[in-house]
This record gives sequence, structure tokens and C-alpha cells, in this order.
Amino acid sequence: MEAPRFFRSEAILLPVPRIVHKPGCIIFADTNAARTSTGHQNIPTGKFIFTYLFYMHMDQVLDFLNQRRTIRKYSDRPIDASLMNRLLEVACRASNTGNMQAYSVVVTTDPHIKAALAPAHFNQPMVTQAAAVLTWCADFNRFSHWCEQRQADACYDNFQSFMATTIDTLLAAQTFAVAAESEGLGICYLGTTTYNAGEIVDTLHLPRLVVPITTITVGWPAEVPDQPDRLPLDAIVHRETYTDFTPEAIDRLYAEKESLEENKQFVRENQKETLAQVFTDVRYPRRNNEPFSDKFIAVLKRQGFLK
Ligand SMILES: Cc1cc2nc3c(=O)[nH]c(=O)nc-3n(C[C@H](O)[C@H](O)[C@H](O)COP(=O)(O)O)c2cc1C
Repeated sequence: MEAPRFFRSEAILLPVPRIVHKPGCIIFADTNAARTSTGHQNIPTGKFIFTYLFYMHMDQVLDFLNQRRTIRKYSDRPIDASLMNRLLEVACRASNTGNMQAYSVVVTTDPHIKAALAPAHFNQPMVTQAAAVLTWCADFNRFSHWCEQRQADACYDNFQSFMATTIDTLLAAQTFAVAAESEGLGICYLGTTTYNAGEIVDTLHLPRLVVPITTITVGWPAEVPDQPDRLPLDAIVHRETYTDFTPEAIDRLYAEKESLEENKQFVRENQKETLAQVFTDVRYPRRNNEPFSDKFIAVLKRQGFLK
């Protein structure tokens, strides 16, 4: 058995119940049993439970992150309110600019409000099927109120502040997504949020300095879809400085994606010559990108982030 890759070299006293309910974690009744079963003779007396569970948990985290996939079909089972609150608490632990927590999330479970949101998401079925629809918002409204009530100049009605709050919003949303998936829930992001942000502002009554950035539908999975492909790491990672792509590198990096039968099928179904054309002509075409850009800029003006 390989040497343990401890998350930290010492045991850390965490509340056990937060860890032990994870599938795959083992608690040993005493230190000797832990040493015998794991083969690690150096487990310190009285601390093994915490240390070993961290070790187990780290491996599980990487496996689980590597196995995840978007879930678009959900069962009718609701999400327990206390679980939802725990996930939201964890989301709020994400790094954020200056610890201002300049973001908010609207949790929608009411079928009528979900139905009202659906058209803004081009009626993607997840919106009405999922137990909850979470609209994550860039939000300098609350923080500005606080500043104004404390004789401070709330100077966040500008594009720089919009970028900061948008980054923070996405970090919190992604932390929620990972936390939800770790509890066995399924999630799907909805990019339609920025296409029809104005309609969402109206439906959710979002005030000035609040702009919807992304939506996550969440529920108990009713499907296990195949995991989609990913580009090789070389396509994403540049060592030390950026190396731009030669035509040969592009051919090499996209070869596997282009060779997949489902992607070839995609090209045939859309009567295109290349997979890239499916993206440019069908999925994300200029005829959509440009008007939806104008629409979103108008929302930023209306909500006070742009002059
Ligand atoms: C910002 C963002 C917007 C997305 N929008 C949609 C969407 O509107 N509808 C949808 O079905 N999936 C949407 N997705 C999910 C992606 O299609 C999915 O993450 C991608 O195909 C990779 O699949 P995987 O998450 O299963 O690895 C979105 C994902 C992100 C991050």
C-alpha cells in the first residue's frame, strides 16, 4: 500500500459527524485496529480517526470531481430544507473580493415562479422539473445599503465593481454545485440567464445593482448520462508563459473530440462539414451572440452598473 497522502501532516480535530456520513469512510474502533487495517504504523494514538478520514476523504474528493457530470433529469423528491441550507452555507465559504460577499442567490421552489422563469430559459425542461432553481446574482445592492447607512460612499455602480461581483457570484455558485454533487444531488447550469437577464430581473423583482449571472437547477438525479469528453490538458495548460497554437497543434488537440461518434453524429444531424461549424452556425452563432450582448448591456445600464 502506498504511503498515505495526508491532507495535513497532523490530525485535525473536526466534528466527526460531518465526515463519517460520507460513503467509503471508515472509522476504526481503536488505534491498533487502524494501524493493522491500513498498514500505517505511524498513526498517532488518539488522532488516527481524524487523520485517516482526511486521507480517505482526499482520494474520494478527486475521484468524485473526476466522475461528475451535468444532470438534466430529476426525480420528484424534494430537497430537504436543512440540506439546502447547509449547501448554501458552504457556498458562502467561497473566496470573495474583500469578503464583501457582494452576491446573492434566489432559491425558487414554487412551481408557479419556476413556470414564470421557464420562458427566460427558453423553456429548458430542467427549470420546471428540478426541485429548486437557483438564480445567482451579482449584487452590490445590499452592500451599498450598508455603506449608505454607515455614512460610507457606496461607489459600486461601475463596470469594475460589476466584474468583481460577477466573479464572486460564480465562485459561490460553483462551490454550491460541487457541494450539491458531493451530497448526491444533480445540477445543471443555465447559460440562458445572461441571454434573458432582463426578464429574470422582472420575474424575481431584482432591484438596482442586482443582475442575474447564472442559474443552477438542482434535484435528485433521475439519469446517469455518459460523461462528456474533455480536451487534453495541453489544450488548456501553458507552462510558464502562453504558447500560441500552430495549425498542427490545433489538429492534434481537437483530433479526439472530432473523432468521437457522438460528435460526428452531431455534424451529420446539423448538416455541417465540421464540428466547429456546429458551434459557430447552430449552437452559438453570431446572430445570437451580438443581439444578446446588446440586450445584456442594456440590463447592466438599467440595473445601474453601466452609465
Ligand atoms: C455557464 C454555463 C452555462 C450552461 N448552460 C447550459 C444550458 O443552458 N443548458 C444545458 O443543458 N446545459 C448548460 N450547461 C451545462 C454544459 O452544457 C455542460 O457543463 C457541458 O456540456 C459539459 O458537460 P458536463 O458538465 O457533464 O461535464 C452550462 C454550463 C455552464 C458552466
